[in-house]
Amino acid sequence: MLDNPEKIHSVDKSNMLGVISSLPTQIERSKVLVTGMNVPHFNPSTVIISGMGGSSVGGELVRDWLSNQVNIPIMVNRNSGLPRYADRNTLAIMVSYSGNTNETLSCARHAWRKGCQIVGIASGGKLEKFCKSNDFPHVLLPPGMPPRGAIGYLFSSVAYVLQEMALIRVEEDIHEARSVLEESQKHWTVNVDTDENPAKKTAKKMEKRTPIIYGHTFYNAVARRWQTQINENAKTMAWSSELPEMDHNEVEGWAGDSKGKKFISVFLRDKHENSETRSQVEATMEILGKRSKTHEVWSEGKTILSRMLHNLYLGDYVSFYLAVLKGVDPTPVRAIMEVKKKVYSTEY
Ligand code: PA5
Repeated sequence: MLDNPEKIHSVDKSNMLGVISSLPTQIERSKVLVTGMNVPHFNPSTVIISGMGGSSVGGELVRDWLSNQVNIPIMVNRNSGLPRYADRNTLAIMVSYSGNTNETLSCARHAWRKGCQIVGIASGGKLEKFCKSNDFPHVLLPPGMPPRGAIGYLFSSVAYVLQEMALIRVEEDIHEARSVLEESQKHWTVNVDTDENPAKKTAKKMEKRTPIIYGHTFYNAVARRWQTQINENAKTMAWSSELPEMDHNEVEGWAGDSKGKKFISVFLRDKHENSETRSQVEATMEILGKRSKTHEVWSEGKTILSRMLHNLYLGDYVSFYLAVLKGVDPTPVRAIMEVKKKVYSTEY
């Protein structure tokens, strides 16, 4: 199945593959969308990035990547309101690909009431209108994509907003990451057969098991992205978790529960991980390996960002091939829409 491009395209009716393969280009284009914007020029005491689902991952990646490089806290907010400490010294970035997500719109209004400095990122919708009518800067993304497919735009726009505000320089790292993604992508595309294709091989390994993805240090958002891509593209249950925290609780479940054999645990690895992380991962894999199948994914690239995005991007392809193996069109997310219809009955 995975080595038959025609069959793959017949399952992928809405061309998720095209969307996934555009990630490196999205990253490059984001700079133009943000450069020259009228961003607030001030020194925030904190950065709060609000968004839900596919629109929250970009902020989470920025947090994992830059938290050790900036002197202020970067927080990701997946609620309908901001934390109490948010005030006029807060940079509140609102991210919603559609621009119509209730929770994010509600955060935008809350941030406005609290006097935060707001920047919006959306492809239109109510968030764009809100920003325009209140004179807040807004990054306008190209429309027409599934939100999770716009990850390149969503992530780099947040990073470029921070650069535009002179809080950090991100351009060189983003540029290097783009080359790594372009190179890696060649090994994961449809035309490379399973024997030679790590993305297809990993999907095959996962086919009959429930994946649990383990991140650590700056791979936690990446682990979560693997999970959510598998959930949404392959319509399959998956979870993610993080080291070292899991070794203080979850590991007991693995050691004592025979249901482990139904799972495959995937560990996101890094050649530069320090000895503490390495021994943590290895000790954990030893225990989990007795109960479930384990699998390692090794990143490539020079910078932290390129290594993060390399591992993330492989997960996107894996989730796509899992969808194909299941025979489901990766793009439509009917259950998400059904819930939204029921819950979003109030007009904002
Ligand atoms: O992937 C999806 O479709 C969802 O996770 C959405 O991203 C989420 O529901 C929020 O919508 P939006 O990204 O338009 O704000």
